Amino acid sequence: MVFGSEEKRSYRMVQIIDGKAISATIKEELKEKVAAMKTEGTQVCLAVIQVGDDPASSVYVGNKKKACAFVGIESLAYELPESTTQEELLSLIEKLNADSKVNGILVQLPLPAHIDENKVIETISPAKDVDGFHPQSVGRLCIGQKGYVSCTPAGIIQLLKRSGIAIEGKECVVIGRSNIVGKPMSLLMLRENATVTVAHSRTQNLKEVCKRADILIVAVGKPKMITPEYVKEGAVVIDVGIHRNEGGKLCGDVDFDAVMPHCSAITPVPGGVGPMTIAMLMNNCVESAVLSKQL
Ligand code: GUN
Repeated sequence: MVFGSEEKRSYRMVQIIDGKAISATIKEELKEKVAAMKTEGTQVCLAVIQVGDDPASSVYVGNKKKACAFVGIESLAYELPESTTQEELLSLIEKLNADSKVNGILVQLPLPAHIDENKVIETISPAKDVDGFHPQSVGRLCIGQKGYVSCTPAGIIQLLKRSGIAIEGKECVVIGRSNIVGKPMSLLMLRENATVTVAHSRTQNLKEVCKRADILIVAVGKPKMITPEYVKEGAVVIDVGIHRNEGGKLCGDVDFDAVMPHCSAITPVPGGVGPMTIAMLMNNCVESAVLSKQL
């Protein structure tokens, strides 16, 4: 009997990477660590600043506060009005920089248009930069020194490692070159000894480039853009995108149902990369208690 390719494929197990479960495990581990630190007299504390009341930002900030409460990290919430001036925001950051009780400072992005985002990021003390956005943190990552790493790419490394996926020597293609995801992601994969290509909106022959990837990491911001023509048989596909379609259902940058049968492992949306970002923020806050003394 001759099997069609669809029938052959159905014999292979595809690993659906459960980011929700991995994130929960990391938070449990951190909870124990924070409790142990407390008995030694160290309380981890994160300051979270939101300017304005963008609904999506309010949801993210609420989730960060909830995660802090679960792990045992104290959170200081600063909910500032949209009309806050840049000077007012910078002086709050400077006050928190000087407060020895505060280990981490997070300013939720995006900020209102009248505030210079780069100036804000640069004002946060590198020792308290738990988002990993400060130029010093990015520079340290680039030259292989210890420091804070942007939470979403750091979470993807954890997803791969905790799913038993080898990175060393693999062809990795990252689509997207943002400061928050694409660039740090490529540096982290390089640090793990992958061969890394960074593709972006001007890349020629994108499908062919992506088809080379053993590990394809997608952060393009376009719903279901990645179809099977972009994916090598047996590749690992990591989807950073999150979108709400017309029916109110969440989807990623990858057409999950179409791509999944071609993969050896894939992250779903929701429940893949998303939950890892907050877990890694909590990890950075806990690390800060130790790391801030070394920077
Ligand atoms: N806005 C969207 N994602 C993030 C993030 O990871 N950190 C901050 N500070 N703002 C964001």
